[in-house]
Amino acid sequence: MIIAIDGPAASGKSTVARSLAARLCAGYLDTGAMYRSVAAEALRRDVSLDDTTALVELASSLTLRFEREGGSVLPTRVLADGRDVTSEIRTPEVDSAVSPVSAVPGVRQAMVRIQRELGAVGDWVVEGRDIGTVVFPDAAIKVFLTASAEERGRRREIDMRRQGLSMGAQDVQQRIEARDEYDTTREASPLVAADDAVRLDTTGLSADDVVDRIAALVEAVRR
Ligand code: DC
Repeated sequence: MIIAIDGPAASGKSTVARSLAARLCAGYLDTGAMYRSVAAEALRRDVSLDDTTALVELASSLTLRFEREGGSVLPTRVLADGRDVTSEIRTPEVDSAVSPVSAVPGVRQAMVRIQRELGAVGDWVVEGRDIGTVVFPDAAIKVFLTASAEERGRRREIDMRRQGLSMGAQDVQQRIEARDEYDTTREASPLVAADDAVRLDTTGLSADDVVDRIAALVEAVRR
């Protein structure tokens, strides 16, 4: 069974998808981390973000692995060609580079191929932008999460503080909005809710509330 969780930046996808996967004993796939890893590797190798041929080559040849450590049921590390990129993919530099990288159709094809291979066996909670529309259009459950711009800015600020990074609230919000604008208006698999997705506005809801609601949808499908 595939549970697709899509939505804009900082809408609560990761927190909810991780917690839901743990609760359901399902796999958890963070497709944003895959695009982020390609972007991080492009920056490290000095690949120009305008060089779509080089970006597609990079995405097609990069070996991505999600690893669990210390008995965790969820992945805790992301490896790109064996290099630990877990922290690097969350930096503001990668935040800025990931939208143009993920807008390249050939990069998307390479990532979608891996995502479909992984999701072919077992139960998965998959989070991203195009999971319910493109990657798994037949997903058993499709959820589109949203939250107000202020709430999303606040969440991202907390995330950044946790990583020891600091940025003014206004700056954080502007960057989120710029990324959403890019992701929504690109030609290849833009961020859009699937027609059959359940829309959930998470503003003012706790992560547990949201997980409870999605778990109830899963229960209804399983019954
Ligand atoms: O979920 P995230 O913020 O970590 O995603 C980072 C970027 O990756 C996002 O701005 C757009 C891109 N992305 C995408 O195009 N398709 C996906 N399925 C997941 C992420």
